[in-house]
Order: sequence, then C-alpha cells, then structure tokens
Amino acid sequence: MDSIRIVGGQPLHGEIPIGGAKNATLPLMAAGLLTEERLTLTRVPRLADIETMAELLAQHGIAVERCGNDGRSLSLGGAITNTEAPYDIVRKMRASILVLGPLLARMGEARVSLPGGCAIGTRPVDLHLKGLEQMGAVIELEAGYVVARVAGRLRGATIIFPTVSVGATENLLMAASLANGQTVLRNAAREPEIVDLCHCLVAMGARIGGIGTGELVVEGVDRLHAATHAIIPDRIETGTYACAVAITGGDVVLRDARVDHLGAVSRVLEEAGIGVTEVPEGVRVRRLNGLHGADVMTEPYPGFPTDMQAQFMALMAVAEGASMITESIFENRFMHVSELTRMGARVNVHGASAIVRGVPSLTGAPVMATDLRASSSLILAGLAAKGETVVSRVYHLDRGYEDVEGKLSAVGAKIERISE
Ligand code: UD1
Repeated sequence: MDSIRIVGGQPLHGEIPIGGAKNATLPLMAAGLLTEERLTLTRVPRLADIETMAELLAQHGIAVERCGNDGRSLSLGGAITNTEAPYDIVRKMRASILVLGPLLARMGEARVSLPGGCAIGTRPVDLHLKGLEQMGAVIELEAGYVVARVAGRLRGATIIFPTVSVGATENLLMAASLANGQTVLRNAAREPEIVDLCHCLVAMGARIGGIGTGELVVEGVDRLHAATHAIIPDRIETGTYACAVAITGGDVVLRDARVDHLGAVSRVLEEAGIGVTEVPEGVRVRRLNGLHGADVMTEPYPGFPTDMQAQFMALMAVAEGASMITESIFENRFMHVSELTRMGARVNVHGASAIVRGVPSLTGAPVMATDLRASSSLILAGLAAKGETVVSRVYHLDRGYEDVEGKLSAVGAKIERISE
C-alpha cells in the first residue's frame, strides 16, 4: 500500500490545475445508460472511483473508452446487456446506486446490490427507493439486492424529499427524464453537480425546468440521444487546495476553478483571513494577515459542504482562537479528529460538534487515512506541521484526488509518494 511523506513548513506559490469534478462525473457516467447513442464526457478526472464506475457500466454492456487528445474524455455507448449491479463493485463505491434509476427507466428492471455500511455513517438509500415507487416501480429486497421492476414505463409523480439528498435527486432526475408525463422533485438538492447533470440531460434531449432551484420539473420524453458534455471543475478539490494555501501561508492560483461554485467555503475562508478572488485563470487564494478561528456548520449547497469539513478542521487546528465545527449531514464523520490530535491539534467532540482550539503549530507524525476527505485533512495538517508526516492507506485519497503529490510539489511543498 502506498503512503505519502510530507515535510511541513513550506509556503505554496504558483498555480495548481483543478480537474473535473468526481461527484459530477459519476452520475453523468450513469446517465450514459439512458440512451443507446453515444455520450461523450470531457474534462474527466483520472481517479479510482471513475474506474470503478467504468467497470460497473462495462458489465452492464456499455463500452467506456478514454479518448480525446488529452486522454481526458470518456466515450460511453452500447446496448444494455445486463441489468444487475453486483455487490463486488457496489461495495467499493456507494455512488454505484446511481445506475438504479437509469436502468429501471430504460429497461423496466434492475437488480442493484445495496451499498451496505460506510465509514461515515449509515447512509441509507430509502429516498431513492421511495421516489421510484411513487413513479410506479415495484421494489423488493432480496438477499442484499434491491430488485426493481415496472410494467411499461415509469410514470411522472410529485416527489417531496423530507431531507435534501444529492444522490436521490440525481437518481430520480435521470429516471424522470424517460418517464411518462411530468415529475416534480420538491426539496431537491441544488449542488453544482446536480446543475451539471441537468445541463447534460438537456443536451441529450431531456426537458427540465427549475434548474439550480430546489424544485425541478421534468417532462418525460420517449428517448434521449447523443451529446457531448464538459464536466465542471471540482469544487471540493478547489476548496481543499484553498485550505492548503491558507494553512501554509502562500499565494496560489487554482487554475480553472470557479468561485461561484464555492458557496459558503469562500465566505468562511475570508472570515478566517484568507483572500479568495476570481481571476481570469480561475481563483486566487492567499493568506492576508494571520489565520483566525471561524465557526461552520455543514449544510446542503450553497451551505458549507460536509466534504470540506475535515479539511477545514485541519486549518482551524492552527488558527488563532477557537472555532466550532458542526456536522449536520453525516453522523460519525469526525474520524480524522483522533489522527489530527496525534499531530498536536486540540479538538474536543461533543455529539455533532467539535470545538477546535488553535495551536501555534502541529508536529509531524505517522498517521492513517480513514476515508477520502479525512485523508486530505491529514495531508493539509502535514503541510503545516513541523517535521515529517507519513500518511498511510492513501488508496482513500486516490479515490478523489488526482496526483495530489505532483500538484502540491509543483507549488513548493515537500511531498512525495512512497510506493510499495
Ligand atoms: C453525495 C456525495 C458525497 C457528499 C454528499 C453530501 C457523490 C457521489 N457523493 O453523497 O460526497 O458527502 O452528497 O453532500 O456525489 N439520506 C437518507 N436517505 C437516502 C439518501 C440520503 O436518509 O435515501 C441522508 C444521508 O444519510 C445523509 C443525507 O441524506 O444524511 C445526505 O446524503 P446524500 O446527499 O444523499 O449523499 P450522497 O448522495 O450519498
């Protein structure tokens, strides 16, 4: 297993390229199941999760090919030959559940393994299933699999989500685009990744109103067609590198990043003393004068993202004063706390909130990554710490960050991958 070795204390200067968003690419790949024609996605990041989704689609019969001059495009096409998503692939990545809606809408049946437990909480899929049932699907659970069937086509329905769910909104949007009649999704997620999915579906011939709002209205069509779509830049990769600059003190342009997708992240960073400005190349981030404690609560977009909580905690660990970080989306998403503590952070967790008392500096240590965003928070802590930090189990990091050691060393960090 690979690990990442960091010697902290180097301020970052220069430019970091931001790749296409992982969480936009995964549902867009599932959308490839909605048409027999070709879907071409550009600006696709090179990440383990993308490979997992490609593997899943391939066993459904969809040919997934890397193409384009830069090898960053994916072309998807072919007939669906199998409507089962097996446990062996689904257990590796929860987002596999996103094939359920498209398979059911296209083929009238799907058998998808339940994702099972997950390090950051129970994460049920009940909202996905209830919505599909409202659209006429009959759903049974058999030996750990969701077995869904519909006679004829799914039919439009008004679905009111009791909680905002990114994945359920995506699954039902895709299903509704091929349903009979109108579907209204109320209290829908408004994340930029949802907007990106809507834009791609519209390019494929879907009819969607209310894009970017909490109420999406979909008029189902008989079939969707070929399209080419460029993936939006990854706002979580952007936010993570913004925290890297903030924690080391430096001045970096995050190339191709979009400030308008950062939501509460740019406001909170500014409150902490970090300059976040739009420039023609992307977003410029620099430490202005000192780093100050700031409180955050994770919320659906445009609130502060749960996927930035761990990284922000690393930053607050070395800020002046105290900050309170409240996690309202997932239970059990504070696994990074014990590892940050080993590096000298002062953090107390009370239920869903963590009080972070800033210390002047962290000290390097061997630490272990427990999930994707926890891994990046340990990388950030290592960049700021005195001495050497070795982060092990970096396969978590490779699920969502492309070439983290290359991107950070290019702007002055002392960081390298140790391959075994
Ligand atoms: C997506 C993101 C993930 C991010 C999360 C929240 C992808 C591939 N993953 O995950 O990185 O952390 O959004 O921004 O895009 N819930 C239910 N029932 C359901 C579905 C969800 O109770 O059927 C609950 C969850 O347990 C959680 C909340 O709703 O408390 C939000 O989860 P959701 O938005 O669905 O997260 P994901 O789509 O799994």
